[in-house]
Amino acid sequence: MGKNDEICITGYVTVLCFLLTLLSGMVCGQGCSPKNYGTNKYVCVCNATYCDNLHPPEELLQPGYYLQYTSTQKGKRLQPISMEISTQAPTTGNVWNLSSSVQYQEILGFGGAITDAVGINLGTLSNDAREILLNQYYGPQGIGYTFVRTPIGGSDFSLRFYTYDDGIADRTLSRFKLAEEDYKYKLPYLKYIKQLSDPKVITAPWSPPEWMMEARNATVGFTRLKDQYYQIYAEYFVNFLQAYQKEGIDIWGLTAQNEPGDGYYVYFGINSCGYSPEEERNFVANNLGPTLQKNNFGKVLILGCDDQRTVLPEWAEVMLSDETASKYVSGTAVHWYFDDDYPASRLTRLHDSFEDKFILYTEASYIPGANEPAVLFGEWKRAEKLAKDIIDVINHWVSGWIDWNLALNTVGGPTYLNNNLDAAIIINATANEFYKQPIFYALAHMSKFVLPGSKRIQLDATDDSGIENVAFLRPDNIVAVVLLNSNDDARSITLRTDANTYIPVILDGHSLNTVIYNKA
Ligand SMILES: *[C@@H]1O[C@H](CO)[C@@H](O)[C@H](O)[C@H]1NC(C)=O
Ligand SMILES: *[C@@H]1O[C@H](CO)[C@@H](O)[C@H](O)[C@H]1NC(C)=O
Ligand SMILES: *[C@@H]1O[C@H](CO)[C@@H](O)[C@H](O)[C@H]1NC(C)=O
Ligand SMILES: *[C@@H]1O[C@H](CO)[C@@H](O)[C@H](O)[C@H]1NC(C)=O
Repeated sequence: MGKNDEICITGYVTVLCFLLTLLSGMVCGQGCSPKNYGTNKYVCVCNATYCDNLHPPEELLQPGYYLQYTSTQKGKRLQPISMEISTQAPTTGNVWNLSSSVQYQEILGFGGAITDAVGINLGTLSNDAREILLNQYYGPQGIGYTFVRTPIGGSDFSLRFYTYDDGIADRTLSRFKLAEEDYKYKLPYLKYIKQLSDPKVITAPWSPPEWMMEARNATVGFTRLKDQYYQIYAEYFVNFLQAYQKEGIDIWGLTAQNEPGDGYYVYFGINSCGYSPEEERNFVANNLGPTLQKNNFGKVLILGCDDQRTVLPEWAEVMLSDETASKYVSGTAVHWYFDDDYPASRLTRLHDSFEDKFILYTEASYIPGANEPAVLFGEWKRAEKLAKDIIDVINHWVSGWIDWNLALNTVGGPTYLNNNLDAAIIINATANEFYKQPIFYALAHMSKFVLPGSKRIQLDATDDSGIENVAFLRPDNIVAVVLLNSNDDARSITLRTDANTYIPVILDGHSLNTVIYNKA
């Protein structure tokens, strides 16, 4: 796989860079090959032979030192500096206490999605460039993704509407088979990343076969599963799990439906199926849950909702307060699209009522504003907004975050519905290269440093400087603190550790930072 050499070289560059930083205090590059699309609009360009990579941060940690990684609007990308931890309390400025013994939720991980559109775009790259791209997310020098989401059948990021049993009613599912898209666009890449880091696979259907639904009218919306097909549809899930298992892909978790609320929108247009919370509860309790168990898929986790937090906590309460449904449901899946309009306190209310059920974000992407292209090259504001939301929801009990399409083309597609979107990586097929957008780094500041099994810990941020913050204790006893400065000017704060030592941090204007140090 010709790319390993390059990753090694980049790794050495990082080590050199680190030593130089230690010796001279100078900041040096991380190997991002920048391309500029206007003032402060940088992407990092990667191709078949080159991509910026991260040396494993924990290997660079020296006793008595901390590491700070910074990305900025002005163009830094995960740039490390290393500084000595101080035993002296600062005489001025804000001191924020960290208490690693005060622990909150456990982190499950971070990830993105492989849709048909992603597979189509990956197919436009040369083999080497494609493998480098997937390594950026799931490889040893990538950003540490441990989740991948993939649709059951077609989604809006497909080239057509399809399920695994299209045509006239087929009560025995005799026609069930995976689609050409599974073999061309999804399974090859799921198999590839499985051998890189074996991420947890989470899935959901966008729609059942049309014959299972009340008269489908995509113009008007409101489609739902017909009562007589609830059990047959549960068996359809089993067929899917078996077919993927035969291909070597085991599913970690699923939801009964992607955005069940969409089916209730008039003129929604995207493949969907409407469930009320009561209908989803009934389907899971009476059909899906027991049918998975009976067919040896009882280990596959079922999550509820998979929709905007607009419907929380009420939706989840319907599912989780039902004794039978609750037996089968491990947690609640949430999408980020209306987070601006509905406060994160809804997540805390949900957590407080059902402390043993986790909350996981399963989809996020930018919906372009009116007259705005879907893809904004090098747009830092999007990175800042994303980072702010991730920090916010994790401070409200969320256990992980899954981004939407891993890679789209230069106009944010393809999709047969023309609902193009931005993505962390944009592929330029003509040039056989891809661009790592600022949002790639916003995700990396979490995913690379906050390992699965980390616990969120107490951080007393005592001033109103507008620095978004969240802290974790990792299973390897490293503390990771993520700090976002959305102000134009630099800010400085001091972190006080449990060991009564002090970490002075300077946060550049419009910067995202991750600080790590050994707790013990
Ligand atoms: C790939 O990127 C590297 C680093 O920017 C550059 O030196 C090289 O020429 C590029 N290769 C191609 C084929 O464009
Ligand atoms: C931080 O801890 C120190 C030492 O225990 C204490 O004096 C100080 O009041 C704490 N600050 C806050 C804001 O809790
Ligand atoms: C969908 O519903 C609209 C409004 O009632 C109607 O005009 C249209 O003909 C329907 N389409 C189909 C395919 O039934
Ligand atoms: C894609 O690559 C082509 C060929 O190098 C170049 O002309 C074009 O500007 C690139 N597109 C973007 C969005 O950078």
